[in-house]
Amino acid sequence: MQPTGIEKQQLDQVSHLVSAIQQEIAKVYIGDPTTVQVLLTALVARGHVLLEGVPGVAKTTLVKAFSTTLSCSFKRIQFTPDLLPSDITGTYILDMRENTFVLREGPIFAQIVLGDEINRAPAKTQSALLEAMQERQVTIDGQTRHLEPPFMVLATQNPIEHDGTYPLPEAQVDRFMIKLELAYPHEQAEMQMLETYNKPLPELHSLLEAEQIVALQDLAEQVHIERELIQYVLGLVTFTRTHRRIFLGASPRAGLNLLYASKAWALLRGRDYVLPDDVKGLAPHVLSHRILLTPEAELEGMTPRQIVTEALDRVPYRGSAGG
Ligand SMILES: Nc1ncnc2c1ncn2[C@@H]1O[C@H](COP(=O)(O)OP(=O)(O)OP(=O)(O)O)[C@@H](O)[C@H]1O
Ligand SMILES: [Mg+2]
Repeated sequence: MQPTGIEKQQLDQVSHLVSAIQQEIAKVYIGDPTTVQVLLTALVARGHVLLEGVPGVAKTTLVKAFSTTLSCSFKRIQFTPDLLPSDITGTYILDMRENTFVLREGPIFAQIVLGDEINRAPAKTQSALLEAMQERQVTIDGQTRHLEPPFMVLATQNPIEHDGTYPLPEAQVDRFMIKLELAYPHEQAEMQMLETYNKPLPELHSLLEAEQIVALQDLAEQVHIERELIQYVLGLVTFTRTHRRIFLGASPRAGLNLLYASKAWALLRGRDYVLPDDVKGLAPHVLSHRILLTPEAELEGMTPRQIVTEALDRVPYRGSAGG
């Protein structure tokens, strides 16, 4: 295998950091520790995350805890039906004394942005956020402003609410590197949460500076992925496009995102090379939300996730990196 230029000591530091952040978040969010790893993966792979779950499964709690562990500016945007695009990006206002227009920055100007209950605002407002996500810049009254790295959006939505909500259009869901589905906690975890309900929430410490995040992002790019694994990623994506129960398969962006995310995931586990299991573990989080089933398949109760599982069962990996 080619040398990557990443040193053993750097890899050890990364693994320590990951467990420290996991421990910190575990003080307020009781649940599967891989959830935090997936959030960190998206951060290090320069991606955005859509968190989906029924009310009260701690979507907001998790995002707030995650952002607290990062020394980054943080803003929360509560999406409501009357929210306007300019409430997100900002507006130019007249400064009477100077007689010039100055930008009053909207909440998008933060390094970590929580778009809470994103499907409660109409499409035009959602797209103000989604354009910024893709381009990492915003244009207000013809003037373009860059967003400060590591610009990351974490949006939450509730899957079962239909009245008065605006489902994200397919093209926009594709902008999220990862969709994380938050389930109910296991019985033991929920019991632990109920038992500690009257204790004050512990204060969380920030463990990662913005510059360190950017350095990790650069490091993740150097992680090695062999050609056979890239072919495997392509195989998974193509499988979804040719499946007869699928109306719309995964996009080329989906394949790229799976590749970036796999490298970041490998790095966070203290490795400078990607294993087939990295790709397999992330595929459901990266691919499912970009797949549209045919109406018949939907009526039968099939889910995009089942198709991804089928892809993982059927698509062969022809390399030697332990599959
Ligand atoms: N797994 C969990 N660990 C710790 N606390 C939890 C967990 N699940 C729920 N809670 C608690 O339940 C409450 C609701 O959490 P939160 O507001 O974050 O949920 P939400 O998913 O954002 O809900 P909504 O969809 O209504 O906005 C909080 O007090 C939170 O601490
Ligand atoms: Mg919430």
